Amino acid sequence: MRMANDLAQMHHQVDQDPHAYWLDQAKRLDWEQFPTKSNESSYEQEDFGIKWFADGALNLSVNCLDRHLEARGDQTAIVFEGDEPGEGRTLTYRELHEEVCRFANVMKAQGVTKGDRVTIYMPMIPEAAVAMLACTRIGAVHSVVFGGFSPDSLAGRILDCESTVLITADGGRRGGKPVPLKANADKALESCPDVKTVILVRRTGDDVPVVEGRDLWWHEARESVSAECAPQIMNAEDPLFILYTSGSTGKPKGVLHTTGGYLLWCTLTFDLLFGAKVDDLFWCTADVGWVTGHSYVVYGPLANGAKTVMFDGVPNYPDPGRFWETSTRLGVTIFYTAPTAIRALMREGEEWVSKHDRSQFRLLGTVGEPINPEAWNWYHRVVGDGRCEIVDTWWQTETGAALIAPVPGVVETKPGSATKPLPGVYPQLVDAEGAVLDGATEGNLCLTQSWPGQMRTVYGDHDRFFQTYFTTYPGKYFTGDGCRRDEDGYYWITGRVDDVINVSGHRMGTAEVESALVSHPKVAEAAVVGMPHDIKGQGIYAFVTLNAGEPDSEELRQELRLHLRKEIGPIASPDALQFAPALPKTRSGKIMRRILRKIAEGTPEQVGDTSTLADPAVVDDLVANRLS
Ligand code: WT7
Repeated sequence: MRMANDLAQMHHQVDQDPHAYWLDQAKRLDWEQFPTKSNESSYEQEDFGIKWFADGALNLSVNCLDRHLEARGDQTAIVFEGDEPGEGRTLTYRELHEEVCRFANVMKAQGVTKGDRVTIYMPMIPEAAVAMLACTRIGAVHSVVFGGFSPDSLAGRILDCESTVLITADGGRRGGKPVPLKANADKALESCPDVKTVILVRRTGDDVPVVEGRDLWWHEARESVSAECAPQIMNAEDPLFILYTSGSTGKPKGVLHTTGGYLLWCTLTFDLLFGAKVDDLFWCTADVGWVTGHSYVVYGPLANGAKTVMFDGVPNYPDPGRFWETSTRLGVTIFYTAPTAIRALMREGEEWVSKHDRSQFRLLGTVGEPINPEAWNWYHRVVGDGRCEIVDTWWQTETGAALIAPVPGVVETKPGSATKPLPGVYPQLVDAEGAVLDGATEGNLCLTQSWPGQMRTVYGDHDRFFQTYFTTYPGKYFTGDGCRRDEDGYYWITGRVDDVINVSGHRMGTAEVESALVSHPKVAEAAVVGMPHDIKGQGIYAFVTLNAGEPDSEELRQELRLHLRKEIGPIASPDALQFAPALPKTRSGKIMRRILRKIAEGTPEQVGDTSTLADPAVVDDLVANRLS
């Protein structure tokens, strides 16, 4: 366990002499050219930009692989656990290194070079990590698209970053059900003529069409290349990956992270928060399609030389004891999951947990959404037998890795609070007008200074990056989250204050769901808000106005659900879909979402003043026909 004065010393040093502190931390990585510069970021319009370690040079895969070979080449790097219990394999650092080099050579042979964008649409299998690391080996920029996204969503992401290579699999299995990855990919590629190469992993053995001249099998291609591949040395600020995430407006944005700062932030936070030692086995249950999978399944653990689990299943298959059965069998010591999974398992009863031995657990983490104290206490008492500290980590796709979280052994926890900022993280709470709020208070969460893992731009739209995050409160990064700070200086994230909802820890832009709904020929207008949901945290509540004369029906409701699944993916399927003859609008035509939120939350008595509405009677109809 870390010592309290180590952490205090880190805070002190970064406050007093940030330049020295950051260059000191940079020693955690192996650099080809050690940086002399640290933070050169500015949040001001005149000289806006995020820049860290700008004269440093390194290769990410070297930091995750090569540098461990001497001391722990034969140690396990990845423990793969498939959808069926016990279906899996392990890869040592040496084996992983070889696979990465081979696959890097496969991509090179296909003409992929530094800066090219490569899209990865895969199950949670070791090849996904190999593909990501192989991109970093040759300086290609990966864009991982979650396997649960629809062909349309995949196509949108391929087109946005002008990717010409797609890596996928014949198919996947989740919870015993097939995931038609190749079929989805083929469909997506109908609108992506620039994709010239598809590399296919044989995962299920399903019979899939192979397009001559475009598709090649991974297992065949890896045989014909060398097992060695010299790393491409990258500038610290060279792009590393793009990951699409939803915002409050428009289509998903490509969050761009760069090499040096991102990797340092993953490496540092993984060590501080989980401190995995050689005997530890770390299991983060996230999919690599989300940032948690990037930072804490792949990069953070491997950069630290730890053993990491890749799990291609779901928490309740074959039964709700899966996490604990698998943890016992594999020997997991540090376990990191999402509140939504904890709530779902809590509902199934304690016996699913208690019948498995969990004495090897040392630390338990959570991420993705606020954790209610009830779920926190259950996780602590039942899963951790009251022994293990709970590390609740607050962060975002944009932040690269954790920013507010308790360093175990040092920062005391409180159920439901992500506790305190890590060294070099400076939160600030402001009111709606931007006035800084001090002491115990509640407001909008901003960060006043950059940290190495901060995103650098929205791919292809730097202005959108600035507008989205730095103009609401000029000179600050606005997170989009509301937050309370208590009298002990602890932070309690209360959830999004913008038009983003968090469904089972997955981010959805309400605007995105609305635009998918109105793309249906029978829909005139739609408004989407979040609703409280016992398991998912938030659910999707959609208000839909049909074209004049179009009758509503249960079939149409079903059709609209399917339409959303097709346009975005299963995660966009609404929990409630209410047909509304009209939506509440101001006289200038603006939809009053505040009112819709209250209706969806089941507290219509709190809708407040409706006198500014063009037609206040609209609200009565919505309340009367509310779905519960
Ligand atoms: C949003 C970011 C962090 C990686 C996974 C999600 C919410 C995340 C917590 C937490 C309360 C949390 C915030 C944030 N969030 N972690 N520990 N406590 N809220 O990344 O999809 O970019 O979503 O998730 O609202 O803004 P993401």
